[in-house]
Amino acid sequence: MKIAVFPGDGIGPEVTRQALRVLEALDLPGLTLFEGDVGGIAYRRHGHPLPAETLEMARAADAVLFGAVGDPACDGLERHLRPEQAILGLRAQLGLFANLRPATTFAGLETMSALRPEVAAAIDLLIVRELNGDVYFGDKGTRTLDDGQRQGWDMMAYAEGEVRRIAHIAFRAAQGRKGRLVSVDKANVLETSQLWRDVVNAVAADYPDVTLEHMYVDNAAMQLVREPGRFDVIVTGNLFGDILSDQASMCVGSIGLLASASLGERATDFGTFGLYEPIHGSAPDIAGQGRANPMATILSAAMMLRHSFGREADAARIESAVARALADGVRGGDLGGDAGTAAIGDAVLERL
Ligand code: IPM
Ligand code: MG
Repeated sequence: MKIAVFPGDGIGPEVTRQALRVLEALDLPGLTLFEGDVGGIAYRRHGHPLPAETLEMARAADAVLFGAVGDPACDGLERHLRPEQAILGLRAQLGLFANLRPATTFAGLETMSALRPEVAAAIDLLIVRELNGDVYFGDKGTRTLDDGQRQGWDMMAYAEGEVRRIAHIAFRAAQGRKGRLVSVDKANVLETSQLWRDVVNAVAADYPDVTLEHMYVDNAAMQLVREPGRFDVIVTGNLFGDILSDQASMCVGSIGLLASASLGERATDFGTFGLYEPIHGSAPDIAGQGRANPMATILSAAMMLRHSFGREADAARIESAVARALADGVRGGDLGGDAGTAAIGDAVLERL
């Protein structure tokens, strides 16, 4: 079990440390950890946010545990040197096209949601976000128009094959859940989305046991706060998935609780190679103060055990330890409490 650990910037190292404590406590056979630099820290140490040695380390591993990248001190750098390029580069270079972002309300946390408790209580959904295409990876630039104005532009595009492979992932995920899939697009305006919709419809023929519904992204944003309990699996493109997953996190109560898995096609001995990260960022405002909630990273480590190492029982153990800590009232600052990063790690370990 070779795990490349990339703590990154801001609160990344603090939250990653707690996830490693949890992994170490499980006494996993053949666990080997390698640590590499990504993001602003990598830029400072090696002159690049994703140094070649970091990428190599990821390629040699079975899974990557990723903290966070982002550093306001780097905002003035050219785009290809900014910390965010580390995560975008890893997703692209490692072919991690399928991003799974589960959002489920934890028992006892209903009142922490930005929604009414009875609305929040029903949330149990999975966002399947395409991660290698869309406007994120299309050509982009700034050009000067005839009238002398500058114009920024980004190309949005999806090839059929890209849509097809993420659609299969989403249909299969729905089969393993409640059998309901909502595909989110903007087909009333965008050609990219019309093609997306056509391909998803074609793939649906292989999954007669899954109920498919299409929804425009603006409506999906509304339904997600109106009646989030209606969703089971949502499949969508890179940009819409980025936005809807942050929205889903506040429906659940805190972005400090949401884990993610980014998977590709490469098989490991026990599963699929993947990168696992909390969906939150580097939170520079509270970095280094021991105040960040590590639960999203701990839950990401659980996803890693499930998807890359085939250790469902260990994954479920971690998830239940986190759920019990929350049910017992352990609350980080993100949830209005005062438990610090290490204390939350302790609380999860005790229940493990
Ligand atoms: C996420 C983040 C990233 C994204 C940023 C850091 C590039 O917001 O993982 O959701 O936009 O994908
Ligand atoms: Mg995001």
